[in-house]
Amino acid sequence: MEPALRALDIVGGYGKAVVVQGVSMELRPNELVALVGPNGSGKSTFLKSVYGLATLFDGRVFLDGTDITSLGPEEKSALGIQYVPQVDNTFPDLRVRENLEMGAYLERDVREIRRRTQEVYDLFPVLGERKEQRAVTLSGGERQMLAIGRALMARPRVLLLDEPTAALAPKMVEELFRRILAVRDSGVAVLLIEQHAKKALGIADRGVVLVAGRKAMEGTGREILANESLKGVFLGRR
Ligand SMILES: Nc1ncnc2c1ncn2[C@@H]1O[C@H](COP(=O)(O)OP(=O)(O)OP(=O)(O)O)[C@@H](O)[C@H]1O
Ligand SMILES: [Mg+2]
Repeated sequence: MEPALRALDIVGGYGKAVVVQGVSMELRPNELVALVGPNGSGKSTFLKSVYGLATLFDGRVFLDGTDITSLGPEEKSALGIQYVPQVDNTFPDLRVRENLEMGAYLERDVREIRRRTQEVYDLFPVLGERKEQRAVTLSGGERQMLAIGRALMARPRVLLLDEPTAALAPKMVEELFRRILAVRDSGVAVLLIEQHAKKALGIADRGVVLVAGRKAMEGTGREILANESLKGVFLGRR
């Protein structure tokens, strides 16, 4: 199958500082790829460079074979790429329902918005139970669900998730992973940045390891977990 998203030789960073030094990655529909690596290895910067929130010094980005390199984040989002940042990914003062509606701001059909909202409640029942609560009153895990739910309201082809399980209790991590797999199974191409490297590589279809801004390894989770030289890099941490 043709990749939904293809990032080719991405060189990205901030201002004049190069952080990501030539990283390529492909994401297919129905595929979950885990992006792992030590703190500061450039995982978030890679995502931001691809999406258009960091400086893209070199490289190309394709969506369904179309070159979208020069487009900004809003245009990319309108074309079907959704990015959920590591922090500050909800509107704290808005209600759960309103947060979700914001995610479908390009959709004018009220019934369609209601349909999508219900789909998000089906995926994350706790959000339906708390739909009139302000996002600030949610637990950490619930807030991550809301952030993902809001991204899904745009019906993306590609979902870029930056550490949705950061600071969550182990049980919550497993639950969120199960929901992310359900999103993948619905046909979305998902790129998941994870600190819980072992767990993420255990559920992902493929993994990519970044070390110091470069791709150190790519393969199935099993292949990466079996790589002796990478064990010391990060896999023993959690
Ligand atoms: N806004 C920024 N401006 C300048 N440098 C930045 C900025 N954000 C990150 N960096 C630098 O880029 C490098 C890579 O950071 P990045 O956040 O991409 O790593 P990461 O792999 O996502 O780490 P973590 O696992 O801690 O989230 C670090 O050296 C960091 O200091
Ligand atoms: Mg990060």
